[in-house]
Amino acid sequence: MRIDVVTIFPEYLEPLNVSLVGKARARGLLDVRLHGLREHTDDVHRTVDDSPYGGGPGMVMKPEPWAAALDGVLGSAGPADGPAPTLVVPTPSGRPFTQELAQELAGRPWLAFAPARYEGIDRRVIEEAAARMPVVEVSIGDYVLAGGEVAVLVIVEAVARLLPGVLGNAESHQDDSFAPGRMADLLEGPVYTKPAEWRGRAVPEVLLSGNHGRIARWRREQAFARTLAMRPDLVGRWERGAMDKHDLRALAELGLHWDEDRGRFLPTAVDVEQ
Ligand code: ADE
Repeated sequence: MRIDVVTIFPEYLEPLNVSLVGKARARGLLDVRLHGLREHTDDVHRTVDDSPYGGGPGMVMKPEPWAAALDGVLGSAGPADGPAPTLVVPTPSGRPFTQELAQELAGRPWLAFAPARYEGIDRRVIEEAAARMPVVEVSIGDYVLAGGEVAVLVIVEAVARLLPGVLGNAESHQDDSFAPGRMADLLEGPVYTKPAEWRGRAVPEVLLSGNHGRIARWRREQAFARTLAMRPDLVGRWERGAMDKHDLRALAELGLHWDEDRGRFLPTAVDVEQ
């Protein structure tokens, strides 16, 4: 996969040289190219921002440097890249970044990222880009960062580990929380390694039992409990058809039952009339 990033802080993307993504680059699985936005200015101050039309606080990124930078990226298409990249624009007003979106992006041969600083990029840049390539505006969460570079790091790492050959078997992503295929919307429970006792704390006995059926069942129960505690909003997405009788018993112990009328699992001890 080819990845281009246009930014006023190429040094902010240094972590792309490290660990999983760094190794994938070194092995030729990932071709990452960083571009300094200020290289595409033509004034002595290398200006990339200006005050917003209509007033208001902060500054807006000017269209001309972005257009020149994106023209440069598009113009460098190689035979393996396809005609144009998918342009990913990190913004707190974008589509939420999820494992599903990571999978979708991992299927594209070429991604280009346009992380903004200040109040964002002049809208016309995004509109013009959308006429020339697929554009997806993405938020990595309901908080506001100082700029999109950290979001680029998040998205690239989540996408890169899904690419064929990037993860070894030992670190397979089949069991990830949210991974499609495993039951979606179920968080992973706790994990343990040696020693079997540490500072007076024992590893749960079942994990030492060698009984793979019991272990799988226990892990699933832990996942139910963890999800209910941390992300009760996900419980509403659990489907009756995904549960066997062991699951239903475990869910009952957590105080959940299937409500046929509403088509979802609900707390059993509801004493408030809705
Ligand atoms: N830029 C600033 N905040 C962001 C967020 N939450 N997600 C993506 N890009 C951003």
